[in-house]
Amino acid sequence: MGSAFKLVGFLAAAAAALLLSPASGAGDWQPAHATFYGNADPNESRTGACGYDDVFKQGYGNMTAALSTALFNSGAACGGCYEIQCVSDTQWCLPGTITVTATNFCPPANKPNNDGGWCNPPLKHFDLNFPAFLKIAKYRAGIVPVQFRRVPCVKSGGIKFEMRGNKDWIAVLIFNVAGAGSVTAVSVKGTAAPLGRWIEMQRSSGEVWAVRWQSALVGQALSFRVTTSDGKTVESDNVAPPNWQFGQTYEGKQF
Ligand SMILES: *[C@@H]1O[C@H](CO)[C@@H](O)[C@H](O)[C@H]1NC(C)=O
Ligand SMILES: *[C@@H]1O[C@H](CO)[C@@H](O)[C@H](O)[C@H]1NC(C)=O
Repeated sequence: MGSAFKLVGFLAAAAAALLLSPASGAGDWQPAHATFYGNADPNESRTGACGYDDVFKQGYGNMTAALSTALFNSGAACGGCYEIQCVSDTQWCLPGTITVTATNFCPPANKPNNDGGWCNPPLKHFDLNFPAFLKIAKYRAGIVPVQFRRVPCVKSGGIKFEMRGNKDWIAVLIFNVAGAGSVTAVSVKGTAAPLGRWIEMQRSSGEVWAVRWQSALVGQALSFRVTTSDGKTVESDNVAPPNWQFGQTYEGKQF
């Protein structure tokens, strides 16, 4: 009897856990390590391999990270949000967690994995912007063990589309993406035939997506369809007006 009740209780708890994790949108905790960069100069973290040209102006602030090859996934991780906690190091860890956005790549180094080659494959590593690192560990630690999990990105306002490139190579930087945050597919649509249909864009680097030889899109209102790594798609119609300009940013809908 007692064990039957325990089993029912266990099943109920398991069902609740199953229901809870998709609801909170957080992934499972995984082990990794963290270091920091940009301690002397905040400009070191201002740009990066994800293509953001100013993470401060673009709303990511100091809570950013460069990811090792194993996590960066050739730029597919860009824009994703990670909750990180320093663990199992009572000397150097501070309590609490931070949430950072992947904005940069931490490249492999010609050094041993345990001595400077922290970002070498297959290591899971976060090279945190210095102010972010200081929230979870003491400066002198240098490198600390952490646990991390994917969490939904919280944003205000719509997805932002910053036009880049030129008439032969129309590109767009996609930022301020809520939810999964990391974009897996982008399509663009003009208003006049033959470009009044969805045209798939290619990932150029990080969150910069591009199409070639579609110069007729210049002078047409643009719509964008953005799909994130959780499989959700948001369509923003006529986000950019017909007189859109390279270098300008337009705001669409949000996840
Ligand atoms: C950081 O970048 C900004 C914008 O490009 C520039 O105005 C500033 O002088 C730079 N600061 C340093 C310390 O290089
Ligand atoms: C980022 O950190 C630097 C150094 O701690 C600080 O001066 C700056 O105000 C911070 N910026 C933001 C947007 O929080």
